[in-house]
Amino acid sequence: MASIWNPQQYDKFRNERSAPFYDLLALVRPVPGGRVADLGCGTGALTADLHRHSQAAETIGIDSSETMLAEAAGHAGEGLRFEQRDIAAFAPARPFDVVFSNAALQWVDAHEQLFTRITHAVAPGGQLAVQVPANADHPSHVAARAVAEEEPFASAMGGYTRTWPVQSPEWYAELLDRLGYAEQSVRLQVYGHHLPSREAVIEWVRGTYLTDYQKRMPDALFEQYLARYREVLLPQLDDRRPFFYAFKRILIWGRRA
Ligand SMILES: C[S@@+](CC[C@H](N)C(=O)[O-])C[C@H]1O[C@@H](n2cnc3c(N)ncnc32)[C@H](O)[C@@H]1O
Repeated sequence: MASIWNPQQYDKFRNERSAPFYDLLALVRPVPGGRVADLGCGTGALTADLHRHSQAAETIGIDSSETMLAEAAGHAGEGLRFEQRDIAAFAPARPFDVVFSNAALQWVDAHEQLFTRITHAVAPGGQLAVQVPANADHPSHVAARAVAEEEPFASAMGGYTRTWPVQSPEWYAELLDRLGYAEQSVRLQVYGHHLPSREAVIEWVRGTYLTDYQKRMPDALFEQYLARYREVLLPQLDDRRPFFYAFKRILIWGRRA
């Protein structure tokens, strides 16, 4: 199946989506001449910023989406390259000085096992930097799941229900401590986005969270899903212009002993 990630749809809110990336990047200490991995690198533009900021000799962006990687290819060069790989199977032969991931690990289940495995890919003294959305309890996401459980969508997806692997900030802090990170910074931050209207929330969620449902339905049925999602969600949101979309995210940074 063709990848459902669409760089144009995702980039509609480029500025809003990049703010947490730069907050996460600010936590990363440069590793001149070192090696960096960006898990779920997407279109690669931000990976290029990570490569510059970290002063690494080598940065590898990995992503499972062909369409995102096709876009990323334009940023390759001068020690930066991209590979098609699944984060769930990320087990490099040589550890990295920085393992970075912005807005991608929410797509991978079982975070205790995932963070444990990723930590094996961080060199002693190396850094882990991860940002994940923590907005599963916002009406935009609650409504998305509720509609997915309605017919005919539930049957079309074979009864699929989305599991949400993201845990609380303190859960990540405790996990990092158990995994042997000598230093850490974990925080929950609310990113307030002024969208033109409440309708824009649908476009936002469509570019990320809803891709999970989109890839499990025929196109015509997904259009029907969107119409129903709109019907359920909009009455729950303030009809103000601009609409203030409060989006919670967790920023996680640690340095191994
Ligand atoms: C929301 S985008 C974030 C992209 C980029 N990090 C950024 O900050 O703009 C999530 C990316 O994770 C990728 N992704 C999701 N699940 C993945 C997996 N299991 N393995 C590799 N990449 C994955 C998607 O293809 C997508 O490009």
